[in-house]
Amino acid sequence: MPKHIAVIMDGNGRWAQKRHLPRSIGHAKGLSSVQKIIQYAHEFNIKCLTLYAFSTENSGRPKSEIKDLTSLFDKTITNESNKILDNNIKLNILGDISFFPKSLQIKISNLIDKTSQNNGLTLNIALNYGGRTEITQSVNRVLKKKKILKITEKDIQNNLDTKNLPDVDLLIRTGGERRLSNFLIWQLAYAELFFENSFWPDFKKCIFINALYFYQSRNRRFGKLNN
Ligand code: IPE
Ligand code: IPE
Ligand code: MG
Repeated sequence: MPKHIAVIMDGNGRWAQKRHLPRSIGHAKGLSSVQKIIQYAHEFNIKCLTLYAFSTENSGRPKSEIKDLTSLFDKTITNESNKILDNNIKLNILGDISFFPKSLQIKISNLIDKTSQNNGLTLNIALNYGGRTEITQSVNRVLKKKKILKITEKDIQNNLDTKNLPDVDLLIRTGGERRLSNFLIWQLAYAELFFENSFWPDFKKCIFINALYFYQSRNRRFGKLNN
């Protein structure tokens, strides 16, 4: 079983457009898929799940869409916090949430604090996250902490937003695109990549299981030979 699954939850807008609905309806529908995948992660005893909710590049979308997404994130944090606590989930955020309104930042920080002692599923939400920004920040953190001339891989690893978490084993991307879109570019170095054509709001258990089968059928050599 993969220890760490990362998901690019793509296709909300196209799901809605296909139905002549506003994109915001697609995002709202996507939220039910988030609830589903957390449930599947529990069922299959996955230790760590990382969901890409908003990229640094997404900040270039129209203001109205950013507003819709922000209010969806806000509602979700309010409505789901009890469930997160009851289910022993440890919540982390990857990325720079100072982009979002102060009230949302506070809600998120409070919930992170409350879940910090939980030891069930580690749930990372990537919000205003970009892989290149994360690596750059990590290097700057190292430089600030240590007055050294040489930075090691370990230094960079230990100062990423995902410090203390294992590398990603399995990446799932819905919505048909076969690219990383600046997601976890360091942590995906040896991940198995599973691409699904259906849109994120249509995510269901059989897709999750297909991804697990796909993962289990891979021969993970990590550059070495089989025997
Ligand atoms: C992914 O769905 C969710 C976010 C990026 C917030 P999209 O909004 O990218 O949906 P498509 O790709 O336009 O269909
Ligand atoms: C990636 O999807 C970001 C999220 C799912 C949050 P995008 O829709 O932003 O990626 P591109 O533009 O297709 O690369
Ligand atoms: Mg997209």
